[in-house]
Amino acid sequence: MNTKIAASILASDFSQLGKQVQEAIDGGVDYIHVDVMDGHFVPNLTIGPQVVKAIKPIAVQVNIPLDVHLMVENPERLIPSFISAGADIITVHVETCKHLHRTLQQIRELGAKPSVTLNPGTSLTLIEEVLADVVQVLVMSVNPGFGGQHFIPATMDKISRLKEMLSVRGLNHVDIEVDGGIKTQNTPEVVAAGATVLVVGTGIFNSKSRIAENINNLRQAIL
Ligand code: DX5
Ligand code: ZN
Repeated sequence: MNTKIAASILASDFSQLGKQVQEAIDGGVDYIHVDVMDGHFVPNLTIGPQVVKAIKPIAVQVNIPLDVHLMVENPERLIPSFISAGADIITVHVETCKHLHRTLQQIRELGAKPSVTLNPGTSLTLIEEVLADVVQVLVMSVNPGFGGQHFIPATMDKISRLKEMLSVRGLNHVDIEVDGGIKTQNTPEVVAAGATVLVVGTGIFNSKSRIAENINNLRQAIL
């Protein structure tokens, strides 16, 4: 599987959002990652369906999926509006779903691809029963809520264990996405552990170098 890069717009310049999304797409990212925070499940408050709707035309013309990461309580209430707005992949946190299986079915029935995630302190055993119901598992490598945090080293082992769990179930097609603190320096190790989708925010959108250059450096680190 080719490793994909998902640009997290949380780190972008919101006053230039359309331009920044376009630049990331032109720079060769595979997904646009949208971090939705509700001020309850996580302390921060960010993006709603209207922003997804606003960037959808930019992404759809070049077939780039919008990868929407819901860090919200009761995600089932918001899923329909995010899908109508143009979300292609929806990730929900196991910690927020009383009826995880039902919520994943809801995402599929409404026409998007279901994905599940878990906090660094949450055991993989909590998602074991739904592995066959998702297209992707997102392993959080920081505690959700903010961009620009440091990668938690214990994540490497968690990624390897997830890879093994998928493999013994014949689910090698399920993507392993990793989110938080990914930079060119740790990219080779994250990919070697089993990651197939890398979420990168501050490593792509920063004032140090151009977006295209940052994406190119990540690609070189994957090879
Ligand atoms: C954290 C978010 C991440 C974050 C990644 O809650 O889910 O997507 O924006 O940003 P960096 O790459 O800066 O850690
Ligand atoms: Zn995210």
